[in-house]
Amino acid sequence: ADTSLGGYPHYLIKEIHEQPRVLARIARERLDGARQLADLIRHSYGTFLVGCGTAGYAALCGSYLFSRIARRHVNAVIASEFKYQEHFLTDRSLVIALTQSGETIDVIEAVHAAKRRGATVAALVNVTGSTVARLADFTIPLSAGPEQSVLSTKAYTAKLAILLLTAHILNGSEHVGLDTLWRAIEGMEMALAPATLDRIRAVADRLVDAQHCYVIGRGLSYPTALEAALKIKEVTYIHAEGFAGGELKHGVIALIEDGSPCLVFSPLDETRADILSGAMEVRSRGGWVIGISPEPDEAFHVHIPVADVGDASPLVSIVPAQLLAYELAVRRGLDPDKPRNLAKSVTVK
Ligand code: G6P
Repeated sequence: ADTSLGGYPHYLIKEIHEQPRVLARIARERLDGARQLADLIRHSYGTFLVGCGTAGYAALCGSYLFSRIARRHVNAVIASEFKYQEHFLTDRSLVIALTQSGETIDVIEAVHAAKRRGATVAALVNVTGSTVARLADFTIPLSAGPEQSVLSTKAYTAKLAILLLTAHILNGSEHVGLDTLWRAIEGMEMALAPATLDRIRAVADRLVDAQHCYVIGRGLSYPTALEAALKIKEVTYIHAEGFAGGELKHGVIALIEDGSPCLVFSPLDETRADILSGAMEVRSRGGWVIGISPEPDEAFHVHIPVADVGDASPLVSIVPAQLLAYELAVRRGLDPDKPRNLAKSVTVK
C-alpha cells in the first residue's frame, strides 16, 4: 500500500484530495455490499448505527439519509453510549458499526453487547482484518487506503457514500443513488479545485487568530456542521461548535458578538429558507458569516460555492470545511497530522 506522501506536505491534505478516487471505487465496487446491507436492514426489527468521533457523525448523517431517502427509521448512537441503550436489542436487531480502524474500544464493546443479545452485526470498516471486521457477521470494506492523519476525512465520506447507496437501494432507487454518487464525486473535484481553495485560504487568513467559531446546519447538514466543527477543533485548537440551525435562538445566538465567525451550510434543500434566516440573525448581531452553498445569499459575507448534488450534499459540503481546518492548522504553525492529545485510534478505555 502507498503510505508515502506522494508530493503532498502532509497526510491530511493528501487524504482530503484522495476522496474523489475513494468514492469512485465505492461507486464501482461496493454496490453488491450495499445491496446486502439493505437486505439486512429490510429484515431487521430495529437498526442501530454506532461509531465514535467522526464515525459517530457519519452514523448520525446515515440516520438522516435513511429517513429522507428510504423513509426508514435507523437509530444513530455514539458507541460509548450504546451500552446504555442495549436493553432495546433483540435477536432481530441489526447493529451497523462504523469504524475506520476497526480497533476503537468503544465500538468493539458495542459489537460485543450486540452479539451477547443475539443481534446481527454489520460493519463498515477501513482496516480489513481488524477486530471489528473479524467480529462482524457482515463487513463492507471502505477500501479508502491507509488513513494516516489522525483526522478522519476519506473514511468519513466513504462511509457516507455506502450509506447513501444503501438508502437508495432500500428505497428501490439504486440507479438514482449511483447517479447521485457520481454527481457528488464531480462536486468534490470542484470543491478541491484552485478557485474554491482561493476563497478558503482567504477565510483562513481572516480566521487564523479566532478564538471561537460557530457552525450551523439543518437536516442533512446538521451532522455536517458537527463534523466540520470537530475538524476545526481537532487540528487548530480553535473552540469550534456545531449546532442545529434551529437551536440558535435557544442559546447560541447569545454568544455572537462583533466579528464572531459562523460557518453556514445551506444546500438547495428544504432547510434553505430557515438556515438562511438563521444566518441573517447571526449577521445582524455582528457575526461574520461564511456560507457553504451552491448559491450566494445576502446573509453571507463570504460565499464558498459547492455543487448542488441533492441528497449527497453531506459528501460535498464537508470538503471545504476539511480544507479550512487544514489551512488554519498550517497558518497556526501546527502539525496537521498529529494534533496534541489525540490518537488515531483509541484502543484502551
Ligand atoms: C479517534 C480519531 C478520530 C476517529 C475516532 C473513531 O478519536 O482521532 O479521527 O473518528 O477515533 O475512530 P474509528 O477508527 O473507530 O473510526
